[in-house]
Amino acid sequence: MERSMPVRIYENILKTSENRESPRSYYIPRGISEYILLNGEWDFCYFSRDIDVPEIPSRIEKWDRIRVPSCWQILGYENPNYTNINYPFPVDPPYVPDDNPCGVYSREFELREKWGRVYFVFEGVSSCAFLYVNDSYIGFTQGSHLFAEFDITDAVRKGKNRVAVKVLKWCAGSYLEDQDHFRHNGIFRDVYILQRPEGHLKDIEIIPDDKAINVRIEGEANLKILEGQKILYESRIKGFASFRPENPILWNAEKPFLYDVIIEKDGEIIPFRCGLRKIGISDKHELLINGVPVKLHGINHHDTSKYNGWCQTEEELYRDLLLMKELNINCIRTSHYPPAPKFLQMCDELGFYVVCETDIETHGFLRRLPGMPYRYDTETGEWPCTMPEWEKEHVERMQRMVETFKNHPSVIMWSTGNESGFGRNHLAMISWTRQRDNTRLIHSEDATREKPSDVTDVFSRMYMPLDELESCAKSDDIKMPVFLCEYSHAMGNGPGDVWDYNELFDKYPKLIGGCVWEWADHVVTVNGVERYGGDFAGELTHDGNFCCDGLVFADRSFKAGSLEVKAAYQPIRTSFSDGILTIYNRFDFTDLNEYTVKFEIESDGAILKSEELNISLEPHGTVRLPVSVPEIECSYGAHINVYLVRDGKVLAHTQHELPAKVRRKPAAKPLKLAETENEITAKSERFTYVFSKHYGTFTSIVIDGQEQLEGRMRLTAFRAATDNDRNMLPKWANVDTWQGENLDCLFSKVYGCRLEDGNRIVVEGSLAGVSRYPFLRYTLEISITEDGTVLFDLDGKVREDAVYLPRLGFEMELPESSSEFVYYGNGPYESYCDLCHASSVGLYISNADAEYVKYVRPQEHGNHNKTRMLRIGSMLFTAEGEFEFNVSRYGTMALHRANHTDELEPDGRIHLRIDYRVSGIGSGSCGPALPARYQLNEKQVRFSFALQPVDGM
Ligand code: GAL
Ligand code: MG
Repeated sequence: MERSMPVRIYENILKTSENRESPRSYYIPRGISEYILLNGEWDFCYFSRDIDVPEIPSRIEKWDRIRVPSCWQILGYENPNYTNINYPFPVDPPYVPDDNPCGVYSREFELREKWGRVYFVFEGVSSCAFLYVNDSYIGFTQGSHLFAEFDITDAVRKGKNRVAVKVLKWCAGSYLEDQDHFRHNGIFRDVYILQRPEGHLKDIEIIPDDKAINVRIEGEANLKILEGQKILYESRIKGFASFRPENPILWNAEKPFLYDVIIEKDGEIIPFRCGLRKIGISDKHELLINGVPVKLHGINHHDTSKYNGWCQTEEELYRDLLLMKELNINCIRTSHYPPAPKFLQMCDELGFYVVCETDIETHGFLRRLPGMPYRYDTETGEWPCTMPEWEKEHVERMQRMVETFKNHPSVIMWSTGNESGFGRNHLAMISWTRQRDNTRLIHSEDATREKPSDVTDVFSRMYMPLDELESCAKSDDIKMPVFLCEYSHAMGNGPGDVWDYNELFDKYPKLIGGCVWEWADHVVTVNGVERYGGDFAGELTHDGNFCCDGLVFADRSFKAGSLEVKAAYQPIRTSFSDGILTIYNRFDFTDLNEYTVKFEIESDGAILKSEELNISLEPHGTVRLPVSVPEIECSYGAHINVYLVRDGKVLAHTQHELPAKVRRKPAAKPLKLAETENEITAKSERFTYVFSKHYGTFTSIVIDGQEQLEGRMRLTAFRAATDNDRNMLPKWANVDTWQGENLDCLFSKVYGCRLEDGNRIVVEGSLAGVSRYPFLRYTLEISITEDGTVLFDLDGKVREDAVYLPRLGFEMELPESSSEFVYYGNGPYESYCDLCHASSVGLYISNADAEYVKYVRPQEHGNHNKTRMLRIGSMLFTAEGEFEFNVSRYGTMALHRANHTDELEPDGRIHLRIDYRVSGIGSGSCGPALPARYQLNEKQVRFSFALQPVDGM
């Protein structure tokens, strides 16, 4: 179909800006120069169609007030809309809908004098902006997350001036900004005025190197280089200067040393903080920082706030980075657009390796026709990256990023964007980047999606299953570092696989690490409740809660998954055997003697021995320490805990089980049970247990006059689906009519129940989902002794072709007064067989409220695996082996059905699970299926545990 050339500038991809200054390195000039921050209250007027906006914005008669920076959807102009892959408008590039909503911003600013040159800067405005000063049109820009500067000198005057900005919801650039997040609009980052001397410097290039500080400018200026307070160099320079410190202190993410570089010209002072470092690749395809092989323990960072959409203040960004440090993260991918400039300054200072990605994603092209297979069909030539007329826009987005951020030592890779197919325009971006800055690596997952590419420096993939990753590591065909730009999808309860990935990263030199997807949940908080896609009227396409996939919650509080990542990324690995504790130092630049190694030996929760050591152990070194372990006799278990600490903070914690002799209480005499037609009763002075022969289970457990149960014990297999269970759910639950085992619609059948020897109850039964064959047939033997101990012995057979089970065990409800409990098991955080490295086995006290985890979409949580003892109400549960348990104010189905936290109401009971096993968590919401070893997939199940009366808590 022939199309006429677009007439609107914002639909003209060849005209991506008007009067915008050419890009330059980021700095804020000081000295006589002025920096007038325009954040704060502005006048605002929202139009649902841009054609209604008066030609001259100041003619608008009625203004609202709005704060800047902000996203207008958050402030009630239009409803928020979250979409992942689908474009929120038709795919008809470069055109956008006829009715293009528009926000007009206006405010005054004051110039004390009119002198020099005056600039107006946007650090982020979505999707494009037309700038006016004192009613004169200044220029146009698009590229939401890119630095845009305009010379407004000719339009300003001394004293009061009025600026107006017309921001459109959509423009041609929106086709390149199909990132997976809420599609917000507005001036969402800092805006300011710079007033600078006539003839000032523009670009200042200080691309990091490991030997010299190389400064390139146009013209002349004074240059001063300092190491702390000490002036190392001071001179007038012309064009270029290179200074080699005598004893250079190199920058790395662990020890991010920065020199101060101060440039002065005509009273204007431009400060930089510069790091000396070099990036390389070894012949084993390792990533080298200053010659040292480094593993990237990374995270993807989107700008997102619990209350303010895309807007994060400098303090909030700084806090994100401090929290990342706390989680042992050393690498950030700025997914999928360049960050606010201050963010990179903070990364330089705090020490992070940054994969700096430009503002490009065109994912929605793979859904441009109904029913398309999930495929980057770039051979059709219909993707922006393949179309010559889109080249300028692609290359420009790369140029603007590289020019702005080239001086930052933290940036180690330039990335061409995300999920955009791969085409000629990528090649153009890459070749421009190579000639501009050949010191960094080039990353383009798009280029290496199918096979290694010779235009990039790393082989980058996302969500690669563990076995495939290992094959890549071993394959000689891949002759470059392997990097997972995304892995371990952290959505909801999870991720459960991050430890295993890191084991592989450590094992193979070529695997240089990766970035967990992603840092924080994206939400829009309405009346205190976190909302997501589909919660807002008018969302024509949305992806539900897929935006709630943060490693930390929107308020930045941690979940078990956050701490799992902290453990996987922690700077030591240890092992213990035959009295030898082996410690491996995973730091790349730090001797372990900067920390204290502490170990302790615990048994049944009591510390038997504890020692603090200062060990000198070079980076990547291993030490073997003899530890004398006493002979241990205990009731539950014994462990050695190893900690790496500094300033009261624990950076790393590992645990190993110790051999110990476990004391067994001699069994009491069998108790004589009373039987009626429907019931069996066990009774002593202290207790009365009632067992229903009809249901094959206990219906009442009274201990010391107190009823312990509020509902009968039930053998069940379902769990409230986690986000990571999303692909398993149709196989587990009654989601459609044909493929589920229907574990959520469970029928328990008792074929027979008999009392043997007046003391042993034998139940034969099965469990089946509605419409299905039973998936479990079992014999349950229960014997009771005079002291009230009830021994459960379940012998079950799972149908050969049944799907792996979410869990298997007993559910029961207890009175609300049984909220508190004590356990010897994996805690204090929720733990699952594959998400358990942050927790450690020990003796803990907790309660139902403390066990609740506020996942945005309620789901399974609060499990504890590796448990040997649980005391709750007047009941003590123990097992010779291990069991798993869960205490909650919410029942499984209530949790399963709720979509938001405000839909959850405690039902006045405590829900207890005593489980044989619970399947792992994985990260299958976007990542690979749960590895078989974490699935509850055995066909023969044997589960024994004991319940006995104890004094109430
Ligand atoms: C990836 C994508 C991310 C995000 C993630 C799912 O494919 O690059 O932007 O959408 O999937 O959460
Ligand atoms: Mg995407």
